[in-house]
Amino acid sequence: MSKSMSASRERRDDGANHPQVARTIPEIRELLAAAPGKAGAVTGLVPTMGSLHEGHLSLARRAVEECDTSVLSIFINPIQFGVSEDFDSYPADIDGDLELAASAGIDLVFAPSAAEMYPPGFETSIDAGSVAEGLCGQSRPGHFQGVATVVAKLFNIIRPGRAYFGQKDAQQLAVVRRMARDLDYEVEIVACPTVRDSDGLALSSRNAYLSAEEREQAIVLFEALSLARKAVESGETSAARVKRMMRKRIAENYLVEYEYARIADPDTIQPVEKITGGPVLLAVAATIGSARLIDNVIATPPGG
Ligand code: PAF
Repeated sequence: MSKSMSASRERRDDGANHPQVARTIPEIRELLAAAPGKAGAVTGLVPTMGSLHEGHLSLARRAVEECDTSVLSIFINPIQFGVSEDFDSYPADIDGDLELAASAGIDLVFAPSAAEMYPPGFETSIDAGSVAEGLCGQSRPGHFQGVATVVAKLFNIIRPGRAYFGQKDAQQLAVVRRMARDLDYEVEIVACPTVRDSDGLALSSRNAYLSAEEREQAIVLFEALSLARKAVESGETSAARVKRMMRKRIAENYLVEYEYARIADPDTIQPVEKITGGPVLLAVAATIGSARLIDNVIATPPGG
């Protein structure tokens, strides 16, 4: 980021450089227009709903490292939550998030209100097609439409050359890739590895809902995926058998309410029946207490 812009950043008591914060679309556009203008300068975008954890920060650090200007958006997007979902209780901590964004070296934070993103009369939405239908699309109708719509708006507002998404949300990643390709966005979608706690639980803002006992039992998701990956990598070709294996393992933990264990093509999210080709996505979802958690791994069959 240019010296003049860095110098104008807020300096707080901790002495760290804090990102400039834009709350409106004209404000973020103005800050971006003042960013380094050398030919080919790349803006990196990390879209988030806040409540930042190490998973988000791994994306943020990569954007800072690889791009001339890094933007992290914080917006709890109402249109991607179903009526009975956790929109009202979704964790929010803007001050904590700004500290963390600063620690990652982020230049600009875009934290708009719902009224800024969806003014009265807003009606357009993006349907990502079949990639949005399987896995979580079945139990969360409209969710990926809400994700694709807000991501499209963020791409139009920020105009990033690169946008960073976690592999943890594998279907979201596939939806965003499909949308960017189909609608000719000039943005490289960068997939970043899932960040896990030391016992393997994938980091998620929703882990904050878990009690100590639920947290202990939640590890079963990664255990089931690890068993299944080992089976696929050892040559198991029957998706039905691998799914049964995951389901059985998940059901062993009594606080975990199984939702699905599926095997899909990582790009199209279409179900795979026979695991004989290239890498497959192993994906699980379950509810533990009030937290609906998802996780996935990629498994490559021998010779795949
Ligand atoms: O992954 C998320 O946090 C959200 O789905 C995203 C991509 C920021 C869109 O609201």
